[in-house]
Amino acid sequence: MTRLDWTSHQARALKGSVRVPGDKSVSHRALMLGALAEGTSHIRGFLEGEDTRATAAVLQQLGVHIDTPTEGERVVHGMGLHGLRGTTALLDCGNAGTGMRLLAGLLAGQAFDSTLVGDESLSKRPMRRVTDPLASMGATIDTQDGLPPLRIHGGQSLAGIAYTLPVASAQVKSALLLAGLYAQGATEVIEPHPTRDYTERMLAAFGWPIEFAPGRAKLTGGHVLRATNVDVPADFSSAAFFLVAGSIVPGSELHLQAVGLNPRRTGLLQALRLMGADIRVENERESGGEPVGDLVVRHAPLHGIELPEALVPDMIDEFPALFVAATAAAGKTVVRGAAELRVKESDRLASMAAGLRALGATIDEVPDGATIEGSALGGGVIESHGDHRIAMSFAAAGLIANGPVRIHDCGNVATSFPGFMELANGCGFDLRSA
Ligand code: S3P
Repeated sequence: MTRLDWTSHQARALKGSVRVPGDKSVSHRALMLGALAEGTSHIRGFLEGEDTRATAAVLQQLGVHIDTPTEGERVVHGMGLHGLRGTTALLDCGNAGTGMRLLAGLLAGQAFDSTLVGDESLSKRPMRRVTDPLASMGATIDTQDGLPPLRIHGGQSLAGIAYTLPVASAQVKSALLLAGLYAQGATEVIEPHPTRDYTERMLAAFGWPIEFAPGRAKLTGGHVLRATNVDVPADFSSAAFFLVAGSIVPGSELHLQAVGLNPRRTGLLQALRLMGADIRVENERESGGEPVGDLVVRHAPLHGIELPEALVPDMIDEFPALFVAATAAAGKTVVRGAAELRVKESDRLASMAAGLRALGATIDEVPDGATIEGSALGGGVIESHGDHRIAMSFAAAGLIANGPVRIHDCGNVATSFPGFMELANGCGFDLRSA
């Protein structure tokens, strides 16, 4: 496979109005609930990324008809809770942890066997966090020493459990709730820190009775999902690269339209504001049951902070971008309580530490975080480790580096942010294929 490299060059003030693609978490869930519903669900603002397309392809392999009337739109013809059809073909989730973990819960309740596989990165990601509690519900899932592929045995009768998550994870919570649709009795998930609640909100929107509050969710099996329409907001995690870029490049002013502002996602906004960033939220409104707003970011001098640990779950995907902001800040930024970053699409603490060091930054990596010194960046060569968010973060770092930043292996940016290069260059990045 040819590897796609990028070079990011120093740029002048960033200007413009940007609409980043649809939310990845919401897009995955809309497909899955649409597939299990009675009737036809329309999804608008769907993320045309490789991750969410992989989930659509898996559902199609299971017999679900999904139409694409236009880009960013899907029409899902629901099969009902028991309408999926088994296949002996491998179900390929690509790079997507969300796809694989949520589908594991959904498939644990089916009458047929199935096998979920993933790409090289996903094949290294821990799955016991979902298979262990699913086994307590009565599921039988074989792993390779806790890693994919997942061989899910059908025809098991599931019973609800009350489960306290050992680590904050919306994926694990969601897998258990999806299995809970098929379980006898109540499935209750208690979280150490509240995580994104899209599954809970969307189950309610599809008419499934569910009780939820920050930190807990509870449902019982045996109801019906009724098709509904889903408007997917723009993904805050994709907007994050522009929030950081606009904050660190002098003279910048960027407008980001219709960004999802679910409070379980906007930790970076709070962190950047604590660092002195100038970010305004305008036109706050609700769309499809989710808070949405337009964000205006202007350059501002940043200073380092001790990141409050309580913010970690609310910005779990934004640390690569935060680390870039931290190098542009005066003084040091201390991050702790973020060991989960080691089991994302890459070990993000190691990937960011190595990459920032290659550009001349001083960063002290510890098991659950890092301390980053504000420092001028030079040019250099970066390994993205095939991790989309590492690649996009170093594209932002290149804006303020004193030499070209060459980033290896950027193809996976298409998993979450197709068209990133064009959108970024449209507002003043100087990002080139190399
Ligand atoms: C997600 C949950 C988070 C996040 C991921 C998407 C989701 O993962 O990092 O990008 O859609 O539920 P964890 O549940 O592993 O924290």
